[in-house]
Amino acid sequence: MQYDAAVTTTGAPMIAPSILSADFARLAEEAAAVTGSDWLHVDVMDNHFVPNLTLGEPVVKSLRAATDIPLDCHLMIDDPDRWAPGYAELGAHNVTFHVEAAGDARQTARAIRAAGAKAGLALKPGTALEDYLEVLREFDTLLVMTVEPGFGGQAFIDEMLPKIAAARAAVDSGHLRLLVEVDGGVNTETIERAAAAGADCFVAGSAVYGAADPAAAVRRLRAQAAAAS
Ligand code: DX5
Ligand code: ZN
Repeated sequence: MQYDAAVTTTGAPMIAPSILSADFARLAEEAAAVTGSDWLHVDVMDNHFVPNLTLGEPVVKSLRAATDIPLDCHLMIDDPDRWAPGYAELGAHNVTFHVEAAGDARQTARAIRAAGAKAGLALKPGTALEDYLEVLREFDTLLVMTVEPGFGGQAFIDEMLPKIAAARAAVDSGHLRLLVEVDGGVNTETIERAAAAGADCFVAGSAVYGAADPAAAVRRLRAQAAAAS
């Protein structure tokens, strides 16, 4: 499905399975296992910005060739100003980087968009939305982290619900024109709360790849979010 912020912010909830919880030796098959997902979430970690190491450009390049699902690259890396546009050039659909790591977030958003991708800004749990409401006017996606970035399988931080609601309000008022995405601890127990707070797009790692039928898990999560939003 093609992503257009003006459409999807009023449309059906989007589900983005995170391959962090997939089998890294079988990524093409793991992508195929979630056919029907809106985005495939790809966590890039550098062992500097977060205390974990995952994958980088070569794997994104191969995944791009292995699946038609739009790639949602979540860069948990230092110096995204330098690295983020490269992921757009590789064909990522959306490239999100962390404001805490960025030098010039506006300029990096422009570079991502110039390379043909949507630009996303991620906020760690301790980072206030209010400080970035002007910068976010240059973004297509806001990623609200509902766990500390770095690892899958952590518990959803309920204290982030007001941040999601504030982002929703900024979109509904017309101040921002972007998709509100949540990442971390999203599962059948928590997705309704995130949806009710106003999220548009839901990243789910362990809740999808830990399920016996990942595609069915995606459908269930989407239905739950739709019922709650
Ligand atoms: C964590 C990553 C998440 C992770 C979510 O830093 O950004 O995308 O895969 O995993 P779950 O859904 O298991 O919390
Ligand atoms: Zn992520």
